[in-house]
Amino acid sequence: EKITLEELKSSFRDVIDFPKEGIVFKDITTALKRPEIFRHLVDELYEKYKDLGITKVVGIESRGFILGAALAYRLGAGFVLVRKEGKLPADTHKKSYALEYGSDTIEVHKDAIDKGETVLVHDDLLATGGTAAATLDLIKVFEPKKVYASFIIELAFLKGKDALGESEELDIFSLVSF
Ligand code: PRP
Ligand code: HPA
Repeated sequence: EKITLEELKSSFRDVIDFPKEGIVFKDITTALKRPEIFRHLVDELYEKYKDLGITKVVGIESRGFILGAALAYRLGAGFVLVRKEGKLPADTHKKSYALEYGSDTIEVHKDAIDKGETVLVHDDLLATGGTAAATLDLIKVFEPKKVYASFIIELAFLKGKDALGESEELDIFSLVSF
């Protein structure tokens, strides 16, 4: 069965004042729990990236792991974890960044990606772009051939795409924009 954009958009839940007052939180769990929506999300991203020679999918903790891993499996790519500070056991590159609600540090293992790989960074949601920008900074040290960034949801009013700076080296895509 075909999922329309309207159906997809209404599969997410707005939670008011989470995790702080004034934030309208887009909750993807209401979408993920539905088999036809979960499959649709993976299929849509797979169709977009299947012929681009992606060798690594980088998932951003924690909600970026969900579709990121499913996508890596379908693309026949490896999966790399970008995690919050202190979680990865071996040598890491680190980067601190500001969030829509707070600040954080992320890390990636130094041996996660080889020079010249084609990398797809995935997260569930693009808000201010702080997390994705920090991740893209981390990925740069590996000297990839090309980097793509994909999101389920983009909160367009927060101008995250501007923060990331789309360019010839970086291709940014989201399935749904609010
Ligand atoms: C959320 C979301 C993105 C990021 C988006 O993650 O999953 O990673 O914030 O915000 P930004 O564009 O303003 O940086 P969160 O830090 O809540 O972590 P979680 O996925 O582990 O819950
Ligand atoms: N929903 C989910 N994750 C988020 C949001 C949101 O509205 N804002 C920043 N990260």
